[in-house]
Amino acid sequence: MSHLLAPSLLSANFLNLGKDIEMINRSQADWFHLDVMDGVFVPNISFGLPVIEKIRKAAIKPFDVHLMIVDPDRYIERFRKAGADIISVHAEACTHLHRSVYLIKSSGAKAGVVLNPHSPVSQLTDIINDADMVLLMSVNPGFGGQKFIENTYLKIRELKELILKKNSAAMIEVDGGVDLNNAPLLVSEGADILVAGNTIFTSSNPEQTISLLKNF
Ligand code: DX5
Ligand code: ZN
Repeated sequence: MSHLLAPSLLSANFLNLGKDIEMINRSQADWFHLDVMDGVFVPNISFGLPVIEKIRKAAIKPFDVHLMIVDPDRYIERFRKAGADIISVHAEACTHLHRSVYLIKSSGAKAGVVLNPHSPVSQLTDIINDADMVLLMSVNPGFGGQKFIENTYLKIRELKELILKKNSAAMIEVDGGVDLNNAPLLVSEGADILVAGNTIFTSSNPEQTISLLKNF
């Protein structure tokens, strides 16, 4: 299977969001990546439920919702109702990660587990068979447009090994600092889904950049 591409709306033009949603709709992108930040788990605040509900009315592709919030269990059902197809929670934000994963699954969404750059892949050993996806952060979460952390390649390899060893079906997503230079290597190392914000929305032709990030 060729890789999937999930543009992050964090770098879109919020003054004319409808236009960027239409561009993603007609582009070769596979999913919408939606970054929810609470100003507590990460040092930034983005957008939440009412905005996602509105975007859902215009967007025609699956919603990949990345929760950068403390105690996400409180909101899982509501994000599902707002239109989330995949809900990802940070391992660092969940004391009872197994419970959080099953709350997501029982809502009807696919469950993703996110690791910050400092969190070792080894901590996923006992959750990898329950997760539908693992999101490896390749920047410290909170902001778009940051520099890609090179250690991510090693983590993808470790994660791929763990997935194979445990016979897990989890997909691997990489988020942060993805660009046209590092995307091919990320995929050849084992990434199934690439998230990209800045690279797409600061380019002169976002739709074409999406196509370049899909076809290599
Ligand atoms: C960062 C977010 C990312 C971010 C990616 O906290 O999780 O999804 O928007 O943006 P770029 O591609 O600009 O690093
Ligand atoms: Zn994200």
